[in-house]
Amino acid sequence: MADTVFEKATAAAEFVGRKTESRPKIAIVLGSGLGAFAEQLEGATAISFAEIPHFPQSTVPGHSGKLVIGKVSGVPVAVMQGRVHAYEGYSPEEVTFPVRVLGRMGVRTLVLTNAAGGINEGLKQGQLVLIADHINLSGRNPVVGANDDRLGPRFFDMSEGYSARLRELAHEAARSMEFRLDEGVYLSVLGPSFETPAEIRAFRTMGADLVGMSTVQETIVARHMGMEVLGISCVTNLAAGIQKEPLSHEEVMATGRAVEKQLAGLLTRLVPMIGEQLKSG
Ligand code: HPA
Repeated sequence: MADTVFEKATAAAEFVGRKTESRPKIAIVLGSGLGAFAEQLEGATAISFAEIPHFPQSTVPGHSGKLVIGKVSGVPVAVMQGRVHAYEGYSPEEVTFPVRVLGRMGVRTLVLTNAAGGINEGLKQGQLVLIADHINLSGRNPVVGANDDRLGPRFFDMSEGYSARLRELAHEAARSMEFRLDEGVYLSVLGPSFETPAEIRAFRTMGADLVGMSTVQETIVARHMGMEVLGISCVTNLAAGIQKEPLSHEEVMATGRAVEKQLAGLLTRLVPMIGEQLKSG
């Protein structure tokens, strides 16, 4: 019989475990144009996605595709520089496979970052926003199909998809750097076409503040495995119909690059705080 996700993820986690002695309990996924944080890790081991058994390969410019394991102020952390998206043609199982591997490596806290369009007119381009909740309009759910109880339960709660106590820590970290983080609801679409202005108006009526093409599938799988999730969006552009100029991937990447240092600074403060919280349970 073909290997199941459990066996494949376990094999990949064991492969990573042979490359480094480090056993991170915290992992971070860096979104489009937001890769800088990975360069700052102490004693880093970088493993290209191509080397890791069963790992999907990213096809998008700006997603370099490396798993980097290192330390921040002595706290071990696994950082995914790049991710794959459903719009590249990957199945929900493939999109979320890296999260399964992180879970099998023993990661307990997952920080998901992404580039997003700002739907809420109060948001500004270049701003970082904590994800308070999500709306899954990607048309997919990664836990459809036979459930493997070794990974998680058939039915599971999503009423706190994004941990309130991690958001509180993130607010504290931002305050110590003298900036303020807003919170918002992230709505995921499949992409890769950007939205129409009519879609954005509909999404606003539904209660969305941010729109993007990632994250939600990963959050569902992380919650399935019992991980705690923090989501951070970078508002790389105002959503379709709000800004005058047409949307482009170049704009998304350029804003990401302008903000990645601030995000890296925030994560550098936050990781040791999460490390302390994990110690105290
Ligand atoms: N829409 C969808 N995904 C995005 C956007 C957007 O406006 N900006 C960055 N990712």
